[in-house]
Parts: sequence; C-alpha cells; structure tokens
Amino acid sequence: MRNFLLTATLLIELVCAEAKEITFTQHVAPIIFQNCTSCHRPGEAGPFALMSYNDVKKRGKLIQLVTEDRIMPPWHAQKSTFKFHGDRRLSEEQISTIAEWVESGMPEGDHDKLPSLPNFINGWQLGKPDMVVGMSEPFPVPDEGRDIYRSFVIPLDLPEGKWLKAIEFRPDARSVVHHCLFFYDTTGEARRLDKSDPHPGFRRMRQQGRGIGPLGGWAVGGQPEKLPEDLAYYLPKEADLVLSMHYHPSGKPERDQSSVGLHFTDQKPSTSFTGVQLPPAFGALNRISIPAGEKAYTVTDEFTLPIDVEAFAVSAHAHYLGKQLRMTATLPKGEILDLLNIPDWDFSWQEQYQFEEFIKLPRGTKLASTVVWDNSAENPSNPNIPPRRVRWGPESDDEMGSLTLLVRPAEGQNIGTLNSLYRLHVGQVARNPKPATLSKPVEEQFQERGHLIVAGILERSDKNGNRKIDRGEEPIWLKRSFDRVDTNSDNALDQEEMMTALKRLRR
Ligand code: HEC
Repeated sequence: MRNFLLTATLLIELVCAEAKEITFTQHVAPIIFQNCTSCHRPGEAGPFALMSYNDVKKRGKLIQLVTEDRIMPPWHAQKSTFKFHGDRRLSEEQISTIAEWVESGMPEGDHDKLPSLPNFINGWQLGKPDMVVGMSEPFPVPDEGRDIYRSFVIPLDLPEGKWLKAIEFRPDARSVVHHCLFFYDTTGEARRLDKSDPHPGFRRMRQQGRGIGPLGGWAVGGQPEKLPEDLAYYLPKEADLVLSMHYHPSGKPERDQSSVGLHFTDQKPSTSFTGVQLPPAFGALNRISIPAGEKAYTVTDEFTLPIDVEAFAVSAHAHYLGKQLRMTATLPKGEILDLLNIPDWDFSWQEQYQFEEFIKLPRGTKLASTVVWDNSAENPSNPNIPPRRVRWGPESDDEMGSLTLLVRPAEGQNIGTLNSLYRLHVGQVARNPKPATLSKPVEEQFQERGHLIVAGILERSDKNGNRKIDRGEEPIWLKRSFDRVDTNSDNALDQEEMMTALKRLRR
C-alpha cells in the first residue's frame, strides 16, 4: 500500500513537471510568430529576424526584458476605454510565459509542435493598390545636418474625380524617412514650385486652402489602414499628389525615392469626416516656449461638440520632448472616457490609432487634450544636453504637440456646424491662448533664471572678484540705475540687490 502511494505521488509529480515545462515550439513560438515576426523579418522595420528557435534563443534575455517592460511590441497607447484596431500589446500571461521560458534555460521542445510561420504579406500591406506612383527622381539626404523638409509633386492625370480609401506609403531609404504627409493640389502651385527649384522637389507650400486638401500621412512605425466603413477622401480630377516629406539624417548619406499605392473605391461615402485637433495647428497658436530644465510644461485645450458625432480614430503628435499626450471626452452626463493616453511618448512611433468600433459622442461632449513636454536633462530623448529653451517650430529639435480626433457626423447631423464652431475655437486660441502650466511655480522659475542672469553679470563685470559689482565695474545699462539698485548705499551691487532690481524690472 505504502509503495503504491509513493509511486502514485511520484507519477503525479512527473505529470505536473511535464505540464509545466515551457518549450519554444509549443509555447513561445506561437507568441513570437504572431506578435513579433511581422516586423522582425528581412525587409521590415525590425533590426533582426525572429523567425526560428536560434533567432529567439540568441536574444532570449533581451526579449524577456523588452517584453516585460512593454517596449516590444511597440505600442504606446495605454489601455483605454475603447479597443483599438490592431492593438499589439501582449497579455500578462504571454509576457510571463516568455520570462519563465528564458529563466528555465530556453528548451526547444518537440519539433512536431512547431507552428508554421504566418502568411505574411510581402510588399503592399493593404493588397495590390489600384495605382502605384512615386517620386520621379531620388532625393539625396546628406549624412548629417539639420532635418530636411521637402515636398515632391506627382501628377496623377486622373480623367475624373475618385474616392480614395487609403494611401499606402513605402519608404525607400527607411533610415532617414521620418514622416510623410499626403495632400492633393488642383491649383498647379506644386508644379510651379517644383519647376522653379533646381533640385529634386521643393521646400514648402501651404497644405490647405482652395483646391488643396489633406489625404492623411505616414510616420515611422505606422501601419497603413483603410478608412473604415464607407468613409473615403475625395481626390478631384486632374489633381496632383503632393508628398511632403520629413527627413532626419542618419549619419550615412542616403538617396530616397519613396513610392505610394493608392486604393480607390467606386462607392460614394454617405458622409464626410473631419479632424478635431486640440490644441489647433499642432500648438503653434499656443506660443509654446519651454524653459530649459522644465520637467512638465503643460498645454491643455478643450472643445465642446456642437453636434452628435461618431469618432473612429485618434492620433498624437509631438517631437523629442513630448512626454505625455492624452485626450478625454466628458459626456454631457459627466462620465469621462479615455480616448487616447500615451504616458511615455516616443518620437519614433507616431501612429494613428483606429478604434475597433465607431464611438458615439453626443452633442455637448467636452473633448479635452493635454500635452506635457519634459525639457529636463533627465529626459533621455532630450536632444540638448545641457537643455536649452525650446520653442514651437517645424524642425525635430523644435517642439509642437497636439491630439487629433477623427469624427463623422451622426446620422442627420450637419458637419458644417462642427467645422464652423471649430474654426471659431481656432480663432479664440489664436487671440487668447491658455497659458501653459509649469512643474515649478512661476516665482521659483524666475528665481532660477534671475540667479543665472546675475551670475552672468558678475562673470563679465566683476573685475576684482569680490562677487559684487563695485561702482565703475557696472555695465553701461546699469550706470543710470546704479544708485537705485544699490539700496544699502555701499557703492557696490551685491547679488541680492541685483535680484531685487530684476524683480522690479519684471513688474
Ligand atoms: C511594429 C514592428 C515591430 C514589432 C511588432 C516588434 N518589433 Fe521589436 N523592434 C522593432 C524595431 C523598429 C526595433 C528597433 C528600433 C527600436 O528599438 O524601437 C525593434 C527592436 C527590438 C529589440 C531590440 C531592442 C534593443 O533595445 O536593442 C528586441 C529585443 C525586439 N525588438 C524584440 C521584439 C519582440 C520580442 C517582439 C514581439 C513580442 C517585437 N520585437 C515586436 C519593430 C517591431
């Protein structure tokens, strides 16, 4: 009897041990093939392949770390109220399966259990485009220097207007193409600018106005998507396509000749759609000016919907100093919905997030967006060490930031009402932008800056090194106010007196 019991326990233990062993072929390969290999294979964005046991074993520890930290698969939106289409986040269970496998020595397991690789689409992700066009000649991108903004015009010669579901962008020189905005031009302006510039393409043109309209865009990390349901852009007949590219030199000279695939539909959409961008114009109207060292420069904006809408996508945009970008919707009854929350912004992954389903937002819903920038030395993405003041501007090392919600009007609602109210809002922000808030109280900020100014004056003018500006040492602009600043009348300006003077000046 005793013997029998012993054997039974042993058997159970053996069975359990068997069930617990995590192997590559049975447990880990399905996770990697489904969630990693689409990018980690030749010709795609990932820097190495993850297609076999050896590929994965070689980087096992690193894979454990990047999945535990949720650095990979790249997906920066935090779980929010609504499901996003194509959400790449791994489940907790998948993450711990990988970790346990790595920690138990990465056994390969039974060959028969290895799943086959998914059928990846090579080339065009959205299937064969109806029309493929590209830059007519390569554009040379130097190895270093400032970012380059360059536009290229592509005549489409469409004999009639077309409904467009998607433009799929194929970057050519992947390491330098940072983003590309698409728009159409029926005015001939782009052709004229191209002709008058001796180099391939031309510098810049307006992207809105009569005869010119936006058609979406692409940025590193973005996956192409067709507009949902029957939504489509209108591409007028004989319009030219304009690709407005942003290049970021990579340290190696490159030549780029990117191309795009156009997907048309014959179905005329039942409604048009629009983007509500908060703050408008990527923050240009908010006069963004981020002090050096500031950890949480925060700009907010709000807009109340004047009609019932259905939201279908949301995106965020900022440069290197962007830290947190968030948009919420407060329903008329007070319930707050999270539309997009990116708590740890990464410049390299500027995606548009499409909702799994249209989200109904009734009239009276308040959209609110918050953009936080971190211009401290602790921000590992800060391009300036030591930090310097950064203002709004188009270059990568300038800043901008906003969130954009794409909406269509609900049935029976007029999109014109929304557009005109939004234009009013843009005017209000331009005239009267909400001041940014800082992580430190204004007084403290001033103290810091004041001390820097005073230190500068001392360095340049304190000839005898007594840490004061004696009479005769003062710079010309201090000559007339010397007596007023010298409150204790000792014929020398100490640091405290200079700080008081600066404060008075500020008032
Ligand atoms: C959407 C494309 C994409 C997917 C999906 C993806 N990766 Fe990556 N991965 C990249 C790119 C691009 C890089 C290099 C740039 C970067 O680090 O952001 C990278 C880098 C890495 C690195 C190197 C990180 C380092 O710091 O050196 C590892 C390891 C990695 N990926 C593992 C994975 C694993 C494991 C998965 C799946 C669970 C995965 N990746 C899914 C695109 C992807």
